[in-house]
Parts: sequence; structure tokens; C-alpha cells
Amino acid sequence: MICVTGASGTLSSEVIQQLEAAKAPFRAAYFSRQKTEAARARGIDAVVIDYSNPETLRVAFQGCDKLFLLGPTLPNQTQLELNAVEAAKQADIPHIVKQSVMAAHEERYIIARVHRAVEQGIESSGMAWTLLRPNSFLQNVVTFMRDTIRNESVFYSSSSDARISHVDVRDIAAVAVRALTDPGHVGKAYTLTGPQALTYDELAGELSKSLGRTIRHVNLSPADLKAGMVAQGAPEEIADWLIDIERFYREDGASRITDDIKRVTGRDPRRFREFARDYASVLQPS
Ligand SMILES: NC(=O)c1ccc[n+]([C@@H]2O[C@H](COP(=O)([O-])OP(=O)(O)OC[C@H]3O[C@@H](n4cnc5c(N)ncnc54)[C@H](OP(=O)(O)O)[C@@H]3O)[C@@H](O)[C@H]2O)c1
Repeated sequence: MICVTGASGTLSSEVIQQLEAAKAPFRAAYFSRQKTEAARARGIDAVVIDYSNPETLRVAFQGCDKLFLLGPTLPNQTQLELNAVEAAKQADIPHIVKQSVMAAHEERYIIARVHRAVEQGIESSGMAWTLLRPNSFLQNVVTFMRDTIRNESVFYSSSSDARISHVDVRDIAAVAVRALTDPGHVGKAYTLTGPQALTYDELAGELSKSLGRTIRHVNLSPADLKAGMVAQGAPEEIADWLIDIERFYREDGASRITDDIKRVTGRDPRRFREFARDYASVLQPS
């Protein structure tokens, strides 16, 4: 039995869909009670977890032999995930597949350090592990940029002309499913990237073609981008994390391209054009 945490989130919801398609037995662990009930109504083995409540983790992990661990982007993310690692150890789960972040081990930006501390906790736990270190999600275009793309045909960054090998969440999920269901992935750390490293101006050009209207990328100063995030409700500390990763991008930290997705899944990762075609309808004005 595979326990999938963060079950309602961008990546884990895709992991669940692919596990369902593969007919692999899994338990979906949600934070929200309402989403848990909705999943149960669809026939899914669903449980409520709160990383700050060990008892919920004990119940969720019982009888599982694999854990897909995904932490929410919160100021105490490291501690929340370490709570889950401890609970997995107590529950004798043999193998953790952890959603991490690109170049976590280099610790060149805050979010990398947040994840690296969890990776180290897992490595020293005695459990078998597999680490997924994806670059920035292509789906961020929908999650974080959809409203301004829809309403103003524009999106913002402070990445300037940095090249980023964004990766499609569907390809990350495919690697996760292989790591959770096939042998041969223990002790491996996969760096997951798309097949192209595009600047945001190039990405805007591709989007314009797919959507049939001009989409512009506007580069802001880090201070202005942060002010915008905070105005939209982001906690100041999280805005600082996100501004810091844009610095990593500008320092050419995220342009590398690997073949790990192809090696693990046998499939080439999706190109931006394919993503833009598949998500075009959600990016058009409502
Ligand atoms: N976005 C990127 O480009 C990117 C790239 C590389 C790595 N990452 C990493 O990927 C992770 C985010 O993935 P995502 O965007 O798929 O996640 P997401 O959509 O933000 O989902 C996070 C999940 O965590 C759950 N959650 C929140 N608080 C919780 C708690 N106290 N206990 C248990 N579960 C809790 C949420 O449940 P509810 O929905 O019920 O609240 C949600 O399902 C982060 O660790 C991030 O650093 C992101």
C-alpha cells in the first residue's frame, strides 16, 4: 500500500490519477476534511492528516510500505516534513519517495535548504529513500499566473532573461509512480527537468501562439515583485523564499537539462508547446 500525502495538491493529485490508472493500491492523505470526504465518495481510500499532529500520521501510515512525501510551502515546512519522516519510521514504512526541489543538495537558495534538511533527515533515518528534485513546474503558469494572463494578457517575474528548464507535473508524477511501484529506485536522486530551457519572454511567445493573442512577460525588480505577492496575500517570509529562487534563476541555476525523466519512464518529457496546448482553455479570458 502506497500512502500519498498532499493528495489534493498540484503534483500529488496527478500522482494519484496515475496510480489509479496503473491499478496500484494507494491511500490518499489529505489535509482538508472536505476533500477527504469527496475522495471517499469517489471510492478512494482517503484519510485526513496534519503534519503537526502525529496521531493523524500514525493512523494514515498504518499498513503502508511506501510513502510519497510532499510538504506544503509554509514557513515551518522542514519541521512538518520531519514530523512525517519520524512517523514513517515509527510505522516501519520501508521506503520514502520525497518530493524535493532542483539542486537541493547544493543549498544555493532558501527553498533548497528547506528541502535539504528533510532529505538529510530521511537519509539518516535508516529507511530506504528516493529523492525527486524537479525544476520549477510548468503548471505554475496556471497556479500562479493564470489570473493576469486571463485578464491582462501579462505575467510577471524578476527572472529577467534567465533560462529555466521548467518541467511538466505530469512527467514528475510519472517518475514518482515508477519509483513507488518498480524496484531499482532506492538510493537514487533524480533531477527532473523539461527538455528546453526557455526565458520567460520565449515562454510568453509560445503562449501567444497557443492562445492566439499576445501575452507579455513583464520583468519587475525583486522588491516590486515581492510587494505584489504580499499585496495578494502571500506571507512575507514565503514571498522572500520565492524572490530568492528568482535570484537563483538569474544566476543561471535552473537552466540545466537532464535525461532522468526519459531514463526512468522511457518517455521524453513534455515540451512547453504541448503544455500550452493542453492548458489553453484555462488561460483564456472567462
Ligand atoms: N511549484 C514548483 O515549481 C515546485 C518546484 C519544485 C518543487 N516544489 C515543491 O513541491 C511542493 C509543492 O507541491 P505542490 O505545488 O504540488 O503542492 P500544493 O499544490 O501546494 O499542495 C500542498 C498540499 O499540502 C497539504 N497540506 C497543507 N498543510 C498541511 C499540513 N499541515 N499537513 C498535511 N498536509 C498539508 C495541502 O492540503 P490542502 O489542499 O487540503 O490544504 C495540499 O494538498 C513544495 O514542497 C515545493 O517546494 C515546487
